[in-house]
Amino acid sequence: MERVSVHSSISTLHGNEADERRSVVAVILAVGNIKGGVGKTTLAVNVAVALMQQGRDVLLIDGDEQASAATFARVRADRPGLKNNFTTIQLHGAAIRQQMLHLTRKYDRIIIDVAGRDTGSLRAALTVADVILIPFQPRSVDLWTASQMSALVIEGRHVNEKLRACAMLNLADPQGSDNNVAGEALTMMVGVEALPVMVGRRKAFPNAFSEGYSVLEQKPKDPKAVQEIRRVVEALGA
Ligand SMILES: Nc1ncnc2c1ncn2[C@@H]1O[C@H](COP(=O)(O)OP(=O)(O)OP(=O)(O)O)[C@@H](O)[C@H]1O
Ligand SMILES: [Mg+2]
Repeated sequence: MERVSVHSSISTLHGNEADERRSVVAVILAVGNIKGGVGKTTLAVNVAVALMQQGRDVLLIDGDEQASAATFARVRADRPGLKNNFTTIQLHGAAIRQQMLHLTRKYDRIIIDVAGRDTGSLRAALTVADVILIPFQPRSVDLWTASQMSALVIEGRHVNEKLRACAMLNLADPQGSDNNVAGEALTMMVGVEALPVMVGRRKAFPNAFSEGYSVLEQKPKDPKAVQEIRRVVEALGA
């Protein structure tokens, strides 16, 4: 998969402010979009494993009542040969904010996976996160939520000034112009940075997920999927 041709853009933020946000360490990373099915949970668990493999003590908070991340964790718990793991808990709404101080004392990295709707969990996550990763599919109907996500980010910054917001393409097409068109659209998001990375639509992701693995652990590995997840982690500075 080619790197997306758009450049990281925070044109809507002033230079110093943009640099300050880029240097924020993603101790608390939220993965959210009010659009469902864009790959939030898939990215959350893959980033969790990537950070765990770097030696971090990682907590994954499943903030979605659908509990996909918690189900993944249960499947994962039965896998043989997994030497390391991360912790998964379910926490919703205001409890995410209330427990965060305590949890940050216990874990190196916290990832919050929230539902594909405008929920109390998403809003709570925006008040505590250092970084929010906002995945989009390269489909115009999916991009309709971009301005609403910008508005939620800006609202979140009223109480959480440091919040860095990063949009990226997931489920990118293997070819065609839709990726570039969508990538350009992400650079227009107000107050949100378009990450210069994307993750393609690859069978490795659902296959690994259904087995309780990250693409980083799956055998045989899909090297492109592995590289994409590593690039996402690097771009997030996580
Ligand atoms: N990069 C990818 N390549 C192929 N399939 C993917 C990719 N990312 C996600 N998927 C698949 O897309 C579907 C939706 O993914 P996922 O559940 O992670 O999205 P979500 O945004 O968390 O959804 P929800 O809003 O329901 O919580 C799943 O079947 C998942 O396996
Ligand atoms: Mg999900």
